[in-house]
Amino acid sequence: MARRGALAALLLTPAVAAWAQQPRQEVLLTTDWKFSKGDVPDAARPDFKDAKWQTVQVPHDWAIYGPFSAQNDLQTVKIEQNNEKEAKTKAGRTGGLPFIGTGWYRRRLTVPGFGAGKRAVLVFDGAMSDAHVFVNGREMGAWPYGYNSFAVDITDAVKPAGDNVLAVRLQNLPEQSRWYPGAGLYRNVHLLVTNDVHIPVWGTYLTTPTITADYAKVRLRTRVETPGQAFQALRLDTEIRDAKGTVVATLSTPLTATDGLEFEQNLVVPRPQLWSPETPTLYSATSKLYAGEVLKDEYQTSFGVRSISVEAGKGFVLNGQPRKFRGVCNHHDLGPLGAAVNTAALRRQLVLLKDLGCDAIRTTHNMPAPELVQLCDEMGFMLMVEPFDEWKTPKVKNGYSRLFDEWAEKDIVSMVRHYRNNPSVVMWSIGNEVPDQWAPGGSKLAKRLQDIVHREDPTRPVTAGMDQFDAAVNNGFAALLDVAGFNYKPHRYPEAYTKLPQGLILGTETASTVSSRGAYKFPVEKAKDKRYPDNQSSSYDLEASNWSQTPDEEFAAQDDLPYTLGEFVWTGFDYLGEPWPYDESWPSHSSYFGILDLAGLPKDRFYLYRSRWNPTQPTLHLLPHWTWPGREGQTTPVFAYTNYPAAELFVNGVSQGRQTKGKSDQPQTRYRLMWNDVKYQPGSIKVVAYDASGKAVAEEEVRTAGQPHHLKLTADRSTLSADGQDLAFVTARVEDAQGNLCPEATQQLQFEVKGAGRFRAVANGDPTNLQPFHQPRMQAFHGQLVALVQTTTQAGTVELKATAKGLKGATLRLTTAK
Ligand code: GAL
Repeated sequence: MARRGALAALLLTPAVAAWAQQPRQEVLLTTDWKFSKGDVPDAARPDFKDAKWQTVQVPHDWAIYGPFSAQNDLQTVKIEQNNEKEAKTKAGRTGGLPFIGTGWYRRRLTVPGFGAGKRAVLVFDGAMSDAHVFVNGREMGAWPYGYNSFAVDITDAVKPAGDNVLAVRLQNLPEQSRWYPGAGLYRNVHLLVTNDVHIPVWGTYLTTPTITADYAKVRLRTRVETPGQAFQALRLDTEIRDAKGTVVATLSTPLTATDGLEFEQNLVVPRPQLWSPETPTLYSATSKLYAGEVLKDEYQTSFGVRSISVEAGKGFVLNGQPRKFRGVCNHHDLGPLGAAVNTAALRRQLVLLKDLGCDAIRTTHNMPAPELVQLCDEMGFMLMVEPFDEWKTPKVKNGYSRLFDEWAEKDIVSMVRHYRNNPSVVMWSIGNEVPDQWAPGGSKLAKRLQDIVHREDPTRPVTAGMDQFDAAVNNGFAALLDVAGFNYKPHRYPEAYTKLPQGLILGTETASTVSSRGAYKFPVEKAKDKRYPDNQSSSYDLEASNWSQTPDEEFAAQDDLPYTLGEFVWTGFDYLGEPWPYDESWPSHSSYFGILDLAGLPKDRFYLYRSRWNPTQPTLHLLPHWTWPGREGQTTPVFAYTNYPAAELFVNGVSQGRQTKGKSDQPQTRYRLMWNDVKYQPGSIKVVAYDASGKAVAEEEVRTAGQPHHLKLTADRSTLSADGQDLAFVTARVEDAQGNLCPEATQQLQFEVKGAGRFRAVANGDPTNLQPFHQPRMQAFHGQLVALVQTTTQAGTVELKATAKGLKGATLRLTTAK
């Protein structure tokens, strides 16, 4: 759905006459929405006066603007998954943001080209939540689950001439979630206008049943809809293009009465370029639907040619090659943008994950935004798509269990039909830690859901994230899944392998190690559920939750057990809500689990995973920082995360000895280089890395910083698209006169944006920070923060100025182009 811009704008352009002749028109409804928080009795009525409502752009998250408060969705609960014995009051469990309540969106809807013989459909990529959709006062559709995409046929309510009024009512309940869900029309809304003879939403299913070096068979099934669903003698002409746009296969197929309303076409792509995370090559099938010589519809199906299987003894096999997932779990929020989807923000996350060496993402615990799936197709990430955190048995009072009986099948069917052509999707997970694992009838439910997925898509394996090891392994639940997926059970993989029939084990969720970027705590100790008075966790990466482990313990299991399929770390990025281990101590309101923080800045752990996952780039990272006034003479351990086999540490030029990786059975020393007895003295720490032959090949140095002196700005990209949506992520650092990061700096930075852009948001990655994301000022956290600048629709230059009291400011220029 590529066409952007408002219908109103299009009506004025000369291209419109031709555009209206197209058999299919697609428009993103982004602008001119009116929004009001709270329930408004007559808001669905076309004559309702909404002039005083706020004008907003969609995607829009009404709650992300705050203010934060401990009272927002205050939950008094006993979390069984966390082994809690009694109910406790948790502020910030869902982010401390005001997402609860009703909200209304309204918009004028011009539907050009609409009239007799036309159909109009709205596609919502996701609406949080309990959406009711009205056109000209008539309710035309509803969808309760806020994460799923759904289509609403509005043909019967649309007036061919003149304006229509679209109104959407949404409602969020307290205790509907275990994390920040977002609120409102937080994903895109599309308007489609087609002929009454057309290919419906998600109407194609493309598979590649045979793949050899010489050719790939492509099987394309295409559904059509006709008035009254009556048979018509139609024809479908399909062309397949390779990534360069060259036509590589064509086929013209008549619909016969025995086909019903579904075409089946079998095409052959010669010498296929295979899709993989390393070579994300895409093809596209363009199908033209004809009645006689009249073009009725045109439909694009993007796809990749790749094979997947799971086999005992081999594990997960992509294009004939066994590989282990180097995966992360991610929630859907985008930190300071909240749940409002933005392609530039998603792309930046994926660029960072690529550098990490990550090749897979589990969309926890809900359907992803279509933009994420498309980017994973294009950039090369494998997706495990997981729709549910609950089935019949609740985890939270107003969660999905309320909807399960009526909606589970409908939700799965839409999800699978939406994403089953995307090569990035390699596995479905039917649920996360559902309490039904041990409830009577739980295995039957699992089988039913897996069967629905298999019916809709027999080409991908199904798993579930299981935490109740004994129950699930003993009652048949784990045995019936295509892939047995366990959360936080590396020490029990051998037992699961022995007891279960599949011959393979996946770490669906691993580690849950906690840390705050730049915060180091002494003494340095491995600990569970460790809490400190400042509500931060230590970045020495030795602190985990009681149900989880440090990264190294999972690494050891994955390396030692050949039947493991890899892991999905909890989590790639910090997210809003679930501030464990501080979920009972406000003002903590965002997570500590991320490999990267809420601003997208890497924590030390980033380099531990990178040293393991990214074999093509050298990693040599030292921690902690080396600015510790008052710690002189005290034990201050130094760690190096590296993919070199050995290294030597020097403090002010004096060797602290050489360490070699993998020399012990103890997981930490196997994967990290650690000098535990170093005494702090100001100056510098330097590490020299040696290759396998003992040759010094790289070095890294961290110096003691002087007084904060100036600000430094660095953007992730310097040329942006002038589309009104693109974002630059600008990292601001407080540095001393020599350019060293001042690691404890907390200055408040103030931002000003001029020219062809506007200030969008700011985040510093501090889970306790209550400053709003949308004011152009924030305190640095451990010397850094990230400011987001958004383009306008004018091409030109954007200037971002950052100032802070007592420091030399900085200015950064970006270019935007059409
Ligand atoms: C898991 C759960 C995740 C998250 C995580 C935190 O048990 O599946 O959603 O809560 O714990 O460690």
